[in-house]
Amino acid sequence: MVKEEDSIVWVDVDGERRICTENLSKGISVYGERLIKVKGVEYRVWDPFRSKLAAAIIKGLKHLPIKYGSKVLYLGASTGTTASHVSDIVGPSGIVFCVESASRVARELIVRVAAHRTNIIPIIEDARIPTAYFAVTGKVDVVYCDIAQPDQTEIAISNCKMYLKKGGYLMLVIKTRSIDVTKEPKDVINKEITKLQSAGFDVKQVLNLQPFDKDHAIASACYS
Ligand SMILES: C[S@@+](CC[C@H](N)C(=O)[O-])C[C@H]1O[C@@H](n2cnc3c(N)ncnc32)[C@H](O)[C@@H]1O
Repeated sequence: MVKEEDSIVWVDVDGERRICTENLSKGISVYGERLIKVKGVEYRVWDPFRSKLAAAIIKGLKHLPIKYGSKVLYLGASTGTTASHVSDIVGPSGIVFCVESASRVARELIVRVAAHRTNIIPIIEDARIPTAYFAVTGKVDVVYCDIAQPDQTEIAISNCKMYLKKGGYLMLVIKTRSIDVTKEPKDVINKEITKLQSAGFDVKQVLNLQPFDKDHAIASACYS
């Protein structure tokens, strides 16, 4: 279970244990999430129904490789709901490269999130073409991939080959219905895990995200 770390805390909110991140952008709520103060520090309540990473932590993720100061390549950032919490966690000394191919969505990411956070670098590109990310220099500690495409695992692997450091982690959201609606979700997940292992990943944990997300799993894998 992920324990309280630098920027993740569990707080009692209205009698319920909730996961929160320290707000890097004081006073600003990104997607309507509650802002709360604990001992003078402002936190954002992280909604597991809106963010698969929060769901994974609540479902018992053993090791969160995203830490204070981490360099993260985030594929499929959308409007920045999860990316904003990743930005909170890595803090001002970390960096989150946010790749998003839909320009209208990316505009919201820029206006609502990146404009208030210096550690978010939006990259409006197709994640199938990792050579196009001129903003990314050097290797990253973590690749987080949530793009809901049939070839999402192949896209994640090609990005890792180019940008993930040895010993770094891939966190891959597996949306089974995007890959094959005709197959049993567990068979789809097993097939994607085999692809990761064949590409040199040591798969540490696979979590089913129900009841927060139907037909979704998240795999955490170390790159060797
Ligand atoms: C499920 S949403 C991501 C939600 C987001 N990760 C969150 O938790 O806040 C998937 C996103 O991936 C983007 N996407 C899909 N295919 C892509 C590609 N080939 N390259 C980059 N982004 C892509 C979509 O436009 C969409 O915004």
